Amino acid sequence: MGWVMAEIDIVPSGEPLGADVLGLDARTMQDDETMAMVRAAFALHGVLCFRDQCLDERQLIAFTQQFGEIESYVLSDYALKDYPEILIVSNIVEDDGPIGLMDAGTTWHTDMSYITAPPAATLLYAKEVPVDEDGETVGNTLFASTAAAYDALPDAMKTRLAGRCTTHSYEAKHARRAQEGKSNRKPISKAQRDSLPPVDHPVIRTHAESGRQCIYVVAGECQGITGIPDDEAEELLEMLAAHCVKPEFHYRHKWRVGDVLIWNNCLVQHLALHDYALPQRRLMLRTTVQGSVPR
Ligand code: SIN
Repeated sequence: MGWVMAEIDIVPSGEPLGADVLGLDARTMQDDETMAMVRAAFALHGVLCFRDQCLDERQLIAFTQQFGEIESYVLSDYALKDYPEILIVSNIVEDDGPIGLMDAGTTWHTDMSYITAPPAATLLYAKEVPVDEDGETVGNTLFASTAAAYDALPDAMKTRLAGRCTTHSYEAKHARRAQEGKSNRKPISKAQRDSLPPVDHPVIRTHAESGRQCIYVVAGECQGITGIPDDEAEELLEMLAAHCVKPEFHYRHKWRVGDVLIWNNCLVQHLALHDYALPQRRLMLRTTVQGSVPR
């Protein structure tokens, strides 16, 4: 028997990024033609939402693998014991403590840009979504288009930044989040510092699938720009990080239970809004697709 073609619809959000994919059942292997459509939409929109999914852990892993090699969270306290490919992101606390990472995404960022080959894409599967007393969904995630932000830079700035690198530091990011009261993580250990040394990436990187140029600067994490004096570089980095996440480049994702969202870590930055608290519960399962060295 051949493949049964899924009839999918791609519905753009109308914002600079984001689209819903309708008619796709993520429990099954997709045929090549469907995946080609999904990949093309992903390259165009940067964030895709597959609504109304009902996946078990294996199915979430298998769906993630249709986008590339999956990463494991072997070092995390919040990876599922039997499925280290899945990380729990949640504010739920049980008798023996938090069940998941509580402070994920509290500042604008792109995932793990402080490693040599940051993940190409991240998926989040919504199991529980908080609502406020008026029935409005809270705990939304904001996305900003780093490609639209690059396009909006003056030509002289594009020329000035071409071919330059900046250093991404996990230690600096951790310190900034703690200083701003946005993290309750312990100070980083020597072992963590040694395993995550600072790494250089281009200030402007190219999204391979579309050829679009994207700003790759994260507030508080980047230090110095090659060939530019330090004080000037610091100002430029602050300016670029703030420019990148301006409201005109945003898409706001209002979660529904059953959403599987995938975002591209070159094309977008994201911010999880922590505007809810227990007894409002939020429970997400996260998987990550391996990436390559930014160019
Ligand atoms: C993250 O940054 O990985 C978490 C995003 C979210 O919880 O919305």
